[in-house]
Amino acid sequence: MIQDNNKSQVKSKKRVADHGEVFTNEREVKAMLDLVKIESERIESRFLEPAMGDGNFLSEVLNRKLNSVDEKYKSVQNEWERYGIIAISSIYGVDILEDNAIECRKRLFNIFNGRYFAHFKEKCLDDCKRSVLFLLERNILWGDALDFTNPETKRPIVFSEWSAVNGSMLKRRDYIFKFLVEKTHQFSMFNDEGNIGSIDEPIKDYPLIHFLKLGIDDAN
Ligand SMILES: C[S@@+](CC[C@H](N)C(=O)[O-])C[C@H]1O[C@@H](n2cnc3c(N)ncnc32)[C@H](O)[C@@H]1O
Repeated sequence: MIQDNNKSQVKSKKRVADHGEVFTNEREVKAMLDLVKIESERIESRFLEPAMGDGNFLSEVLNRKLNSVDEKYKSVQNEWERYGIIAISSIYGVDILEDNAIECRKRLFNIFNGRYFAHFKEKCLDDCKRSVLFLLERNILWGDALDFTNPETKRPIVFSEWSAVNGSMLKRRDYIFKFLVEKTHQFSMFNDEGNIGSIDEPIKDYPLIHFLKLGIDDAN
């Protein structure tokens, strides 16, 4: 578990005044996630935190999901990688402060990579790490969750839905965040039974890609 129990809940008075940035402590994070314990441990369950800070909740969710991956797949590297990547692909976050988004991505990567290395040492694949970094770039975003745009560019926040297909392939579909929220009136994101009938069409639909090939070029 990579979390500093003594981590300060406040970075500066200015950040508290400007953005209400007060981080939740680990005990409360765990207690709140225990309210949705089964979902928090399910590898494929989709979580979105619309004001994630540097990822206190998302880190705990990833740890719980990876505990489930370890339990079932630790003895087979390719399966651990595949399900570990599904765990990462189902975690989403937004924060209005860019440094929080960067910090959150780093934190989630370090949790994944720490476990990956502990299990498979020098057999760890650069392809797997690149896929994880790519997913974190796509899923953990710098954005304003109230007006649904990037604070600098003012372009709409776009999230990617990732679905596992035929074992090792991933399907990516991009959706405009604002539309998802207005359509569902809640932050429930995608239907993970694969049924997208209840939400609108994606703005972009990508070809299937192997889970170890993400981020090789800009196209996917
Ligand atoms: C109370 S902190 C909570 C952080 C984290 N969820 C936690 O529990 O540790 C609120 C966070 O919301 C972010 N925030 C404030 N206004 C926001 C907005 N309009 N859109 C996205 N994030 C926002 C702040 O930067 C801060 O990181």
